[in-house]
Amino acid sequence: MGLFSSGFNVNKVREDFPFISNNKDAIYFDNACMSLKPKQVIDKMLEYYTLYTACGGRSHHKFSERVNEEVEKARLEVKKLINARSEKEIIFTKNTTESINLVAKSLGLRKGDEVIITDKEHNSNLLPWLRLNKDKGIIVKIMVSNQDNTFNIENFKRALTKNTKLVSVHHRSNLDGVTNPIEEISKLTHRNGSLLLVDAAQSVPSMEIDVKKLNIDFIAFSGHKMLAPTGVGVLYGKLELLSKLSPFILGGETVSDSSYDSYTLKEVPHRFEAGLQNYAGIIGFGEAIRYLKKVGFNNIEKQEAALNKLVTERLMNNSKIELIGPKDYKLRGNIFSFNIKGMEPHNVSSILNSSANIAVRSGAHCVHSWFNKHKLKGSVRASLYFYNTEEEALKFAEEVERIAGMV
Ligand SMILES: Cc1ncc(COP(=O)(O)O)c(C=O)c1O
Repeated sequence: MGLFSSGFNVNKVREDFPFISNNKDAIYFDNACMSLKPKQVIDKMLEYYTLYTACGGRSHHKFSERVNEEVEKARLEVKKLINARSEKEIIFTKNTTESINLVAKSLGLRKGDEVIITDKEHNSNLLPWLRLNKDKGIIVKIMVSNQDNTFNIENFKRALTKNTKLVSVHHRSNLDGVTNPIEEISKLTHRNGSLLLVDAAQSVPSMEIDVKKLNIDFIAFSGHKMLAPTGVGVLYGKLELLSKLSPFILGGETVSDSSYDSYTLKEVPHRFEAGLQNYAGIIGFGEAIRYLKKVGFNNIEKQEAALNKLVTERLMNNSKIELIGPKDYKLRGNIFSFNIKGMEPHNVSSILNSSANIAVRSGAHCVHSWFNKHKLKGSVRASLYFYNTEEEALKFAEEVERIAGMV
């Protein structure tokens, strides 16, 4: 069931987003970087700041107990969202980047152990492994994608060896919107006796993910790309694996006791949540998930596809426009990433911004490695979300055509 009994109504949805009513002429197509926030999430954060502003965990008054209750409710929402077995498997972090670094720092990889990634990883899923290569001598294997930027399963099969300890791949690419076949990757990874970490920063906001069904060992994502406040992310891990990880930050609330020469760690997940937490953010995250579920992931996927179809059909045959990724919009989720021949990506995004009030991202999108390999300076990326409209998509396409006509 969608947000409205009569079905998904984008105009009704838009009424929930103060950004949209405060910026009536703006077209916001930078959702892969940061989503807008509905008033329900903003109100939930305000609730914390106005009704029960207190520490979680430590104190024993009613305000603190309310914080604990709300934080645990949010954890339960995350657990249900990805179908984890237990709330204990949900660690709140700052963002996807911290979640991946937590695994990299804590898994205990040793010299000669192999980690497989793809050639399209965000810096957050590349640099932690490169550092382990430098510091510990682990081997980072980078799988080359197909010509059209889709996942090459044969290359993956070849990359797996008895030394592969971890496969760490993105689910949906922030570069071009391509979704990797996680189910197949998971089967092959586990058949090889390796672990699977999924960078789901771009997929959790738009599609239903079942970590049990997909047999995912670790998954990382950020709240700010899925209607939640900035500064909150999640690391999910199978309980038996999290129990073996050694936390990489220690301090307040990570231990149940300490003396001058020893300490006793708290149970999972609390041993990983060091120091005072972003309570308002976590509580807002819980509300964002409730909101997304009311919208319905089937509606989100449908709206993203409808908008991407419009933009793609209008722009794909323009000889001045070079698309990044496969031609078929169905393979590119919510992303239309492109270059106009003869123009710098930043110039294109500046013109879109100044002439038509359209916000897109330009540059390397934190995937510098891919752009360097392809000898490109970057791209212009329009990333759509369920609250965007067909009128916006058409206006964007018209404006890009007009700019392409200038060269
Ligand atoms: C695929 C992917 N991975 C990781 C990240 C990093 O997310 P964060 O900056 O929230 O840590 C992003 C952010 O854009 C992303 O798109």
